[in-house]
Amino acid sequence: MSLSPEEQVNMYRVDSEVSDDMVRHPNPGITVPGCQGIWRTTGRLDSEHGDSEVVVQCLELPQENPRLQPPRILRAVKRLRTQKIYPAVDNKVTIARGLLCLAKANVSETIAVVRMLCWYEDATFTYIAMEYCAYGNLRDWIAASPLQGEAWAREVARQILSVLAELATAQLAHRNIKPSNILIASAMPIRIKVADFHNAKWMTEGTGLGTQVGTLAYVAPEMRGNLDQDHKVFKRYDTKVDMWSLGVVLHEILTKKHPFREPGRSRFSELRYQMFLQNNGCSVSLDALDGMVSPYGMSFVACMLARNAAFRLTPAEALNDQWFRNVIGYM
Ligand SMILES: Nc1ncnc2c1ncn2[C@@H]1O[C@H](COP(=O)(O)OP(=O)(O)O)[C@@H](O)[C@H]1O
Ligand SMILES: [Mg+2]
Repeated sequence: MSLSPEEQVNMYRVDSEVSDDMVRHPNPGITVPGCQGIWRTTGRLDSEHGDSEVVVQCLELPQENPRLQPPRILRAVKRLRTQKIYPAVDNKVTIARGLLCLAKANVSETIAVVRMLCWYEDATFTYIAMEYCAYGNLRDWIAASPLQGEAWAREVARQILSVLAELATAQLAHRNIKPSNILIASAMPIRIKVADFHNAKWMTEGTGLGTQVGTLAYVAPEMRGNLDQDHKVFKRYDTKVDMWSLGVVLHEILTKKHPFREPGRSRFSELRYQMFLQNNGCSVSLDALDGMVSPYGMSFVACMLARNAAFRLTPAEALNDQWFRNVIGYM
């Protein structure tokens, strides 16, 4: 028996009493362990825009013996404004779509997607409770660490590709793959989790993808209505947009540089991006990668950044690329 989209989303909904820095889930009927009892906010995580906020919450445990320190049970909770602020944006619809995609992506136990524990709401906000990934996000990881090397990059790429392969099978496009949306669940060995399904879309039959969402610096050309080689405008795009974004992410992991930012600047350079598109076939000169990466790694990244989506590999094809073959494993 298959559930309707609404039922899939509501499976995760729990009753809650929300107050400042605390939330109580009064209904003990729910079996998900991360969504019972009283949770207190113990810290705030960064957020990239004003419409959302992510906090860490700790479960209140009975203090039977004050000398024994029980292990802390933590979760992350993302808060999204449900009410409309701008007339043109219906937050409710967007939030419901994101929740559906996250619920669908959570179907398999093994997929490296951040676990959704439950969601709840009050008059103003919708809250999504998730497993807490203690090592933060890949953007901060790249910024704080020395260059990680090709084997590390390949392992991260393999894990993201495994997620993208499952998402593509489920007809889901993430549409906002970038380092700050990749969480690190374990550092040694490296284990990532794909997060932030706020822009994700489930491609039901007959409806393709046409809207431009995501983050400019990671957005595939076809999503911006750029011309393909036959000078036809792409009106629709598909899950290959996530492969482009992965190419940008890989470039950043391998070089600590963004391919479309001026050296030393943090802002996306439209000029660099357009110049890149002008020169691009499937073999493109990605200067920053020269000498840092094996030829297989180089051609893999170039293929992810093919301007024409048809030349980009699917996630399943990418996992079979020479770059991943004959590798004994990472650490
Ligand atoms: N489950 C989680 N565990 C640990 N950190 C998280 C978790 N979810 C989000 N974060 C942190 O919060 C940041 C913002 O979360 P995200 O879902 O991307 O929201 P937004 O982009 O809308 O601000 C992430 O980059 C990450 O640093
Ligand atoms: Mg994000």
